Parts: sequence; C-alpha cells; structure tokens
Amino acid sequence: MKKKVVVLTGAGMSAESGIATFRGAGGLWGKYPVQQVASIEGYHQDPELVQNFYNERRRELMDVKPNKGHELLAKMEEDYDMTIITQNVDNLHERAGSNRIIHLHGELIKGCSSRNPYDPRFIVEIKPGEEIKMGDLAGDGSQLRPFIVWFGEAVPEIETALPYVREADYFVIIGTSMNVYPAAGLLHYVSYGTPIYVIDPNSVNVSDTKGMTHIHKGASQGVAELIELLRK
Ligand code: OAD
Repeated sequence: MKKKVVVLTGAGMSAESGIATFRGAGGLWGKYPVQQVASIEGYHQDPELVQNFYNERRRELMDVKPNKGHELLAKMEEDYDMTIITQNVDNLHERAGSNRIIHLHGELIKGCSSRNPYDPRFIVEIKPGEEIKMGDLAGDGSQLRPFIVWFGEAVPEIETALPYVREADYFVIIGTSMNVYPAAGLLHYVSYGTPIYVIDPNSVNVSDTKGMTHIHKGASQGVAELIELLRK
C-alpha cells in the first residue's frame, strides 16, 4: 500500500508561478486592505469593488502556469497516496495534474450564491478571464459572488480535510505563514510521531516540534529535496 502524504499549501506554493503572496514585502494585503477585499463585511460595504478585485485575480490566472513544485507534487502520485489541502484559490495544483485537492478557501474559477455560498446547486464555473458583474444572478436569484471563503465566514472544507490529516504517514507544509485559522490548526490533528516537513524559505508560525524538518528553500527546490528525503 502506498504511504499517505498530506500536503498543506499556501500562497508561497504559487509564488514561483508569479502569483503574489499575501503577507510580507510585496504581499497583496499591503496593496489592498484585507478587510475591504477579503471579509464578508467588506463585500457588504462595497460588493462591486470586491467583485472587481477577484475578476482581476481570475484574469491573472490566464498568465500563470504551474511551477516545478506543483508538477513534482503531482508526479509524487506515482509513489504515494497524495492529498493536497490548499489555502490557495488558484487552480495550479489541478493544472499540474494532482487529483485529490481540497480547497479550504474556495476557488477563483467558481461563483456562488451570495445567500447560500456553499449550496452546491448554485456553484457555477467562471472561466479564467470571465467576469462576475453586479446584476449577474446565482440559481437562487441572489447576486452571484466569487466562491471564496472570506474572513468572518465558515470554512466547511476543514471537515473534509481532517480525516486525511489524522491518517497521514507524512505531513508537509509548503509556502504558508501558518497565520490563518482554521487551516493552520490542521497541524494539531497530525498523529503523534508522524514526520512533519516544512518547505519555506522563511520561518513560519509553527513551534519546531521534534520530528519536524524545515527545508529552507522555495517550493520547487524544496519539493525536489523532500522527494529525496522520503526515499531514504
Ligand atoms: P502568506 O502570504 O501569509 O504566507 C506565504 C508564505 O510563503 C510565507 O511563509 C513565505 O515565506 C512563503 N514563501 C514565499 N515565497 C516562497 C516560495 N518561493 N516557496 C515557498 N514558500 C514561499 O500566505 P498564506 O499563509 O497562504 O486567505 O495565507 C493564508 C491565507 O491568508 C490565504 O489563503 C488568504 C490570506 O488572507 C483568504 O483570502 C481567506
């Protein structure tokens, strides 16, 4: 039976593809106030501004492609039972060929009802480059909005992720500052004794417990090194 590798990814996973991270120098939240474009209150205050922000992010997807790190994670399926739990709303893991991907914070390429964001009947595909405009309606007659989990909203997919985390033989954290919950809290559900790998050029908000290996590299080089370490 293949060993189970569970990978939690964040914005740093896609940095080498040219998508900005959120925090730190050059981060998106330095340019756009997070409360305005990534909170449910911000959406209620100025829905058009928020729609435009995500229309822009969706357009950006057309100009980027998966990097070596995404590709290597997809290739690892040949040898491991892989689960990718991502905080990213891009579709680069999908495009690299990974098959089991849990999106904790939603997906740019989807739109949903503003009344019932998680009602699957009203989730529709929005192709990269297509826009959601004010006045576009979801199937329940409410305004169509981006299928993004904003601050102040529930994160239902955490329930889908938990059983995989508990059963992981290896847990890997790539390119996330581990500041946002409940995603960061997944670490606490890793079974005792499970080896944990962190791939990030910078330090992240986790206490360095025994059994944790920090690979201080970017995603592409870091995943290549991880594969070597797991082979040993
Ligand atoms: P952050 O911007 O907080 O963290 C990005 C991490 O990526 C940092 O630890 C960087 O050091 C690291 N990094 C930078 N370049 C890298 C590279 N080439 N390879 C690997 N790592 C690299 O982003 P997240 O932790 O993903 O939520 O942020 C979590 C959530 O906060 C996001 O999903 C978003 C945001 O607000 C919502 O919008 C709901």
